[in-house]
Amino acid sequence: MAGRLTGRRAVVTGGAAGIGRAIAAAYLREGAAVVIADINAAAAEQAAGELSGMGEISAIGCDVTKSDQTRALAVEAIRRLGSVNVLVNNAGLSGRGLITEISEDTIDALLAVNLKGVLLCAQAFAQAMYDEGNAVMINMSSQAGKRGWPELSVYGATKAGVLGMNRALAVELAPRVRVNAICPGYISDVGMAWRGWEGRSNNEGGTAADIGGRFAAENIPLQRLQSADDIANTAVFLASDDASEITGDAINVGGGVVTD
Ligand SMILES: NC(=O)c1ccc[n+]([C@@H]2O[C@H](COP(=O)([O-])OP(=O)(O)OC[C@H]3O[C@@H](n4cnc5c(N)ncnc54)[C@H](O)[C@@H]3O)[C@@H](O)[C@H]2O)c1
Repeated sequence: MAGRLTGRRAVVTGGAAGIGRAIAAAYLREGAAVVIADINAAAAEQAAGELSGMGEISAIGCDVTKSDQTRALAVEAIRRLGSVNVLVNNAGLSGRGLITEISEDTIDALLAVNLKGVLLCAQAFAQAMYDEGNAVMINMSSQAGKRGWPELSVYGATKAGVLGMNRALAVELAPRVRVNAICPGYISDVGMAWRGWEGRSNNEGGTAADIGGRFAAENIPLQRLQSADDIANTAVFLASDDASEITGDAINVGGGVVTD
């Protein structure tokens, strides 16, 4: 059922890789025009080039932690697309550590990208999206924003913070912008969780798939990991008219790892 996003003009932050890239591809498949914004401008250009056969896509280099860059991103994306009626705040950073050991630099970096970056992008696009109307903002949170895990106090705090912003903006920007979050579980094919398992596989033996599979069997009710496409399909749904009555929500796509 292609074409669910015809007329949508979307910006996906962190779109050069992982979940963001999968969302960009799914949006193109459904007929949206897409700008991917990423701090890694070269990777963003490469991803846009690789996806260009699917539809209208281009790349803009942007560090979401810098307000001059997020404002410039909004101006340039609106110039290229005519307007922006979908913003996916996906750019994020992983970082683990016991609270007794995690460094101040890591705390600063996680807060800057995962929380301040989402706020700055929302700020840069909010007025134009409100003026446009029938607009959609999607904020990438995590199941770690809803439940606790050891070594994820800082990451979890940033993702819970995103949910707080999500609730407030859904009310503040209603009725012209719907604002929803996605809480992915653990992604099996690309992205930060997968890289973590790949790293551990060097020390623990077995492949990343073995480590991830064991984790899923022990911790996830559906006993499997999720794919980037599972998240992208939810991002398609939330940007489509099928979700026209949904705002202020935070949809879990984690096989039951959280249930509220
Ligand atoms: N992978 C998972 O299992 C998982 C689970 C739950 C939530 N998430 C969330 O999903 C989002 C995407 O994660 P992923 O696994 O695809 O990560 P990833 O590391 O594969 O990709 C993140 C992208 O964001 C970009 N980025 C990083 N800092 C940036 C900055 N300051 N400005 C602009 N771009 C920046 C990176 O260059 C990269 O292209 C993140 O918000 C993450 O917290 C991921």
